[in-house]
Amino acid sequence: MSTIEAYAAHKPGGSFEPFEYDAGSLGPDDIEIKVESCGICHSDLSMVDNEWQMTEYPFVGGHEVIGRVAAVGDHVPSLNEGDLVGLGWTSRSCMHCDRCIAGDHNLCVSAQGTITHQHGGFADKVRCHWGWATKIPDGVDAASAGPLLCGGLTVFNPLVQFELSPTARVGVVGIGGLGHMAIQFCNAWGCEVTAISRSRSKESEARQLGAHEFLATNEEGSLEKVAGKFDLILNTTDAELPWDAYIAALAPRGALHTVGAAPSITATVFPMIMGQKSFSSSPTGSIATTRTMLDFVARHKISPMTEVFPMSDINEAFTKLREGSPRFRLVLVR
Ligand SMILES: NC(=O)c1ccc[n+]([C@@H]2O[C@H](COP(=O)([O-])OP(=O)(O)OC[C@H]3O[C@@H](n4cnc5c(N)ncnc54)[C@H](OP(=O)(O)O)[C@@H]3O)[C@@H](O)[C@H]2O)c1
Ligand SMILES: [Zn+2]
Ligand SMILES: [Zn+2]
Repeated sequence: MSTIEAYAAHKPGGSFEPFEYDAGSLGPDDIEIKVESCGICHSDLSMVDNEWQMTEYPFVGGHEVIGRVAAVGDHVPSLNEGDLVGLGWTSRSCMHCDRCIAGDHNLCVSAQGTITHQHGGFADKVRCHWGWATKIPDGVDAASAGPLLCGGLTVFNPLVQFELSPTARVGVVGIGGLGHMAIQFCNAWGCEVTAISRSRSKESEARQLGAHEFLATNEEGSLEKVAGKFDLILNTTDAELPWDAYIAALAPRGALHTVGAAPSITATVFPMIMGQKSFSSSPTGSIATTRTMLDFVARHKISPMTEVFPMSDINEAFTKLREGSPRFRLVLVR
């Protein structure tokens, strides 16, 4: 018997209540992490609400975990009790398919999620395969690092996938949890960064985070003014956007890349053909990219901007996320 004390929602849109479960014996390749903090990603909210029709209740969210290794399985080669680690969206992958062998563990077809195939990090402890727990290197502020493990990785990964040039002009759409980290990454990468938000209310913060330009989409003609400008537009919103206007804002060979879980995309193909433009998306990032991102974070002294709540105030924190008012990532601490 190995009891974990968590917070679970019991129905779509339900509030979190204390919930205890027996995690059973620890698998030989698994570790158990004593949770110190856990960020709240918008995906946790989408999962509570069963927006993606895949939530199982009782639902324990939480996939931006920072904590200490509390137990290691018999076959764990590289982690010891007491190590400071982070865990993100993925908790397991098969480690032997072509994708895993190529280093693209996040594309493994049998990958398992921290909050989709097991109970997550809104708890005192959480488990994962040793490979998906990444040591937090010196130079990364552990207290604010949780959001890097899902949100940060998700927006860092496209820069790696596209081998983005440091001379690129990048537009970041949506200045929330993911977007505010994307601005910092793209600035440190060397790019010219435009923050694209629904109004000017986040302008001063976006500029402090490293945005060189700011565009408010509620201003008439704002997108038309940047036609042909961007080599990469990184969409972090889950909204139906005026996709054709964003494609028009791309430079030739530019890519409109969405990591935000927009429900659908409708776009006119001909302008994409003429400008050799593309539309793409990606899930979080691999184990290797997680390590690279954390090195980059330490080197450039990047830090998510967080608002901290005790984990016992999880429902207050979720209310704040539903209202869309976090600046910029909410983190629960134990
Ligand atoms: N691909 C992946 O692997 C992956 C990983 C993590 C998260 N996600 C997804 O990424 C998305 C963002 O997550 P997050 O945690 O960053 O969320 P968040 O903190 O709530 O931020 C989302 C931002 O989108 C903008 N926005 C909200 N409603 C909008 C609307 N109706 N129209 C246009 N813009 C709107 C807002 O920015 P402004 O106020 O600046 O407009 C908001 O701050 C979610 O869909 C999440 O599920 C995907
Ligand atoms: Zn997430
Ligand atoms: Zn695999």
